[in-house]
Amino acid sequence: MNSTADLLIEKTAAYVKQQLVDAEGGHDWWHIQRVWNNCKKLLETEKADPLVVQLAALLHDIADPKFHDGNEELGPQIAKDFLEGQGISHEIVEHVINIIRHMSFKNSLEGPSFTSKEMKLVQDADKLDAIGAIGIARAFNYGGFKNHSLYDPTIPPNLHMTKEEYKKSTAPTINHFYEKLLLLKDMMHSESAKQMAEARHAYMESYLDQFYKEWAGEQ
Ligand code: ADP
Ligand code: NI
Repeated sequence: MNSTADLLIEKTAAYVKQQLVDAEGGHDWWHIQRVWNNCKKLLETEKADPLVVQLAALLHDIADPKFHDGNEELGPQIAKDFLEGQGISHEIVEHVINIIRHMSFKNSLEGPSFTSKEMKLVQDADKLDAIGAIGIARAFNYGGFKNHSLYDPTIPPNLHMTKEEYKKSTAPTINHFYEKLLLLKDMMHSESAKQMAEARHAYMESYLDQFYKEWAGEQ
């Protein structure tokens, strides 16, 4: 990539960082930085436009609908307003906005409506941050934020949720492992992400084993 692209990425990172100063812990600047880092790592082995990938990674959670009364247009709009002032081609702006609008797990529950190899890479990078030790921390942080219980053996996971049910769910956080986190490994698109996901997935499985043992007072 040329230095103009590098400068734009740095400028975007600075903008996102200051936009997210008050964000909830699972969706804050550090989440964005981890996803951006995951993207850079995946770009070492996967072929995709590095500028589009990195801009989309940086802007993908600029206004998460969960924290903005369900408004799904706000994030794409803020990203568009920012990018249009940066002197890049209309094509790149449209591509980044399409990725931001269509990449989320809940939107994928409705079937794909836009896709590109750049979007798949950002999705992989975002999903990697939802599993493993970090994924566990983010899930319990989100559950705490929503005042969900940790676990309730009388409430089984709902394995066939629609997008609306997923958004409204008040289920215990342990259910989220079965409803989403343990499914992510098989949803990775790139070979590199699949490999990284293996160890993180195994870690969640052993975490759950230990959790149930302690729940039963066995260990
Ligand atoms: P997406 O933006 O891909 O739709 P989410 O915003 O639902 O994904 O998830 C973002 C983070 O919040 C993830 O780490 C996810 O595991 C966590 N999270 C989302 N919903 C829940 C939930 N009901 N319980 C626990 N964690 C959740
Ligand atoms: Ni994200």
